[in-house]
Amino acid sequence: MTIQIITIDGPSGSGKGTLAAKLAQHYQFHLLDSGAIYRLLGLSLHQRELIEVLDQPTELEQSTNIATNLDIKFVSGAEGTRIYLDGADVTETIRTERVGEFASKVAAIPALRSALFDRQRAFAQAPGLVADGRDMATSIFPEAQAKIYLTASAESRAERRVKQLQGMGLDVKISDILTNIQARDKRDMERTVAPLKPAQDAYIIDSSALNIDEVFKLMTDYIDSQLVK
Ligand code: DC
Repeated sequence: MTIQIITIDGPSGSGKGTLAAKLAQHYQFHLLDSGAIYRLLGLSLHQRELIEVLDQPTELEQSTNIATNLDIKFVSGAEGTRIYLDGADVTETIRTERVGEFASKVAAIPALRSALFDRQRAFAQAPGLVADGRDMATSIFPEAQAKIYLTASAESRAERRVKQLQGMGLDVKISDILTNIQARDKRDMERTVAPLKPAQDAYIIDSSALNIDEVFKLMTDYIDSQLVK
């Protein structure tokens, strides 16, 4: 039986996470939140005081070993998925801006990306997978049946992120968030390894002026035409 794979790539704040979860539920497929894996590695390296010294060869080797053996668990329940690092619940911690910065640093290092390759591929299980990230279509699952690139303007992404953080009780300024988003986009798009860009055969959606339901409809219409019946 073919394991069907749907990839959703795009910048942070485009609505990928929400839509990937909705699609996984709709198709009853597994879900890979690859950004969470980069965040978990960023947090783990920070806890070991390695994040600032990744450019040193010995520390990079040590960090690559940590990436290969990363002890992580995704446990889904009625209230959503809880995420564990070395047995500790870090579901909220990994969503902070600070851990996002660590993840972005980790993501720019080829040896660390390679160390996470097999772990991400292992999520592809029957009947199918929705894989959310930056390079799902371009490097991890090039064989995917449906490849979506979801984007939105930096301003609309910053507005959404501010609402999300305020909902978590955090006091944030939109100008700071916008600056962070622009810096992270630049780093993600300009890095030499697996830069953020649409696959050649991706279906591109700009969600700046669309709500979740409108994007969901565009996605399912496209996916239904692509999946193997
Ligand atoms: O989607 P996110 O904000 O949780 O991702 C965190 C960081 O990890 C972000 O800087 C991009 C990087 N990332 C990546 O390089 N490749 C992926 N497949 C997923 C995330």
